[in-house]
Amino acid sequence: MSNSDEIKRIEELRDSLHRHNYNYYVLNAPEISDYDFDMLLKELERLEALHPECDDPTSPTRRVGSDISNSFEQVPHIYPMLSLANTYSVEEVDQWADRVRDGLSGQKVTVVGELKFDGTGISLIYEHGRLVRAVTRGDGEKGDDVTANVRTIRSIPLRLHGEGYPDFFEIRGEIVLPWASFDRLNAERESAGEALFANPRNAAAGTLKLQNSAEVARRGLDAYLYYLLGDNLPFDNHYDNMMAARSWGFKVSDAMTRLHDISEIDAYIRHWDTARKELPVATDGLVLKVDSLVQQLNLGFTAKSPRWAVAYKFKAERALTRLRFVSFDVGRMGIITPVANLEPVLLSGTVVKRASLHNADIMRTLGIHEGDMLYVEKGGEIIPKITGVDVDARPEGARPVEFVANCPACGTPLVRVEGEAAWVCPNKYGCPPQIIGRIEHFVGRRMMNIDGIGEETAAQLYEKGLVRNIADLYDLTPEKLLGLEGFARKSAERVVDGITASKDVPFERVVFALSIPYVGETTAKKIARTVRSLDRLMEMPAEQLEAIEDVGPRIAASIVEYFASPVNREVVERLKQAGIRTEMPEQENAGPVSDALAGKSVVISGVFARHSRDEYKAMIERHGGKNVGSISKKTDFVLAGENMGPAKLEKARSLGIPIISEDDILSMTGEE
Ligand code: IVH
Repeated sequence: MSNSDEIKRIEELRDSLHRHNYNYYVLNAPEISDYDFDMLLKELERLEALHPECDDPTSPTRRVGSDISNSFEQVPHIYPMLSLANTYSVEEVDQWADRVRDGLSGQKVTVVGELKFDGTGISLIYEHGRLVRAVTRGDGEKGDDVTANVRTIRSIPLRLHGEGYPDFFEIRGEIVLPWASFDRLNAERESAGEALFANPRNAAAGTLKLQNSAEVARRGLDAYLYYLLGDNLPFDNHYDNMMAARSWGFKVSDAMTRLHDISEIDAYIRHWDTARKELPVATDGLVLKVDSLVQQLNLGFTAKSPRWAVAYKFKAERALTRLRFVSFDVGRMGIITPVANLEPVLLSGTVVKRASLHNADIMRTLGIHEGDMLYVEKGGEIIPKITGVDVDARPEGARPVEFVANCPACGTPLVRVEGEAAWVCPNKYGCPPQIIGRIEHFVGRRMMNIDGIGEETAAQLYEKGLVRNIADLYDLTPEKLLGLEGFARKSAERVVDGITASKDVPFERVVFALSIPYVGETTAKKIARTVRSLDRLMEMPAEQLEAIEDVGPRIAASIVEYFASPVNREVVERLKQAGIRTEMPEQENAGPVSDALAGKSVVISGVFARHSRDEYKAMIERHGGKNVGSISKKTDFVLAGENMGPAKLEKARSLGIPIISEDDILSMTGEE
């Protein structure tokens, strides 16, 4: 690569890593595997070392992700929460052990071997044997205070047992969602038409950030602890400290063990490479730590990770199996996804029969032929993917598998959206899987929240001609449903009750429920809050739509096209007549609806049960109050939820500022 190519590549890598970082830490929706991410990061580190003139403090190599969301109070970490350097082979681990020994001038080193749990990191603070605070990793310097949610995790002691613990200490570990809870949660989400969690890590991170601790408790999180920090620890080595922590009531994995030389380290790695498949929780590797705290101190840290520890990442599990045929799924937006149907093969404890081939480009790059032997991989992700072809095993005369030219469901010639990898069936109003998919989406929990209609029922309703578009749902009666498989009087009545109740679903969810291409949940909210009425939205020209935050030319054009269709206009007209909400209520318009809080400065702190923080903020403004960020003499009162930060509490008390609860504010504003 020439010099200028390298510099260009640095920028490309930074852009792409920033995006992947955001997908991973903020959205909890990674698009690439951890391994691929690490490879990109390594490439960037290498190029940056060659080009010191490109130094940039905002480079992805300089930071450790961020998972901060707005709804929890941010708390600084006492000790920064760093990450671990990764290795992918026994050789690299051996090189790390050599570096450690060199760094300690050849001293004898004992290493502690541990599992690397694939969940979300947590820092717990204990004072006088009681849990006082739980904070996520955040950006490594500060994280979100999630104490209220963490308290619901049964394996985390709220009061310690035994004796010998310091008055004040921190313990770190990983919050995980065990496979059994993960499977149950995804099964529930599937039947509710909600998006599935890709892996237990995302599910654990998402659950920990829920506003509703009761729901957190229900999901069945668990926690393994692996790092004790503080000034007065009972022992001078990591292993004994962790065993002490176990005696105080913490869950410390049985896999934690002392390793005395390279051969024991190698044997440990070989053992867990297979034994981990039997574990009840997801792991993505092992962690090796220098046992002696004095040696840890001497080795110290680099900017990002300790020199005294290293992660060994398991290779994604891979199997080789024969392709039976490629089928093509049709999504609710008409997007065609090629799927490899395989000879069943055992992979990470489950039998795999289908794996996504994503799109025509990926399929072509793989160069799949009929009857090929394919490599299937399952990393941390739950959906297996095809990663390669064993070309040597190709049957003689096998023909390449072609992407379909026509929709497999309705036969319409496919079209390709400019600049995108996806092929789409344009027969929006006549292609059954698209219509059924839209019905399923409409009734989903985050949309109209109509219980009792899953994929199968939606298909039955369509096939029996009872529901041919979303507006037809409002003509259903218990009698009509009784004709369907699996319905009894009670369940039929429940569905119809759910349909009636859906008329009260807020307008912003109605906008999302309509399945306007490219309009996701967040965009739908922004559109609803800005435009405030379906009638206005239907007539809005593209230029005006583009003035809305997050709406670019592509989304604007898609909205205009959606409402230009006579079919959609008729459906919307019928939905209006059925009585669903097609407007944002007046009281949510700017401007106070009362002066109950006129002139009052209010600080909000903590987690709330009945409304979100943002809703309380809007409520305060509607009633003439002002939201302020920090407590001062001028603050009139503090609205406190569960788990208000101790610093804020102290400050409010010392200034004599009243602290009110959410019930108080609801009765003060009359919004009960
Ligand atoms: S020790 C300073 N031990 O992996 C080192 N981390 O990639 C602190 N993790 O952020 C971490 N299992 O969330 C450590 N047995 C284990 C671990 C572990 C999982 C996570 C942790 C950390 C990440 C680093």
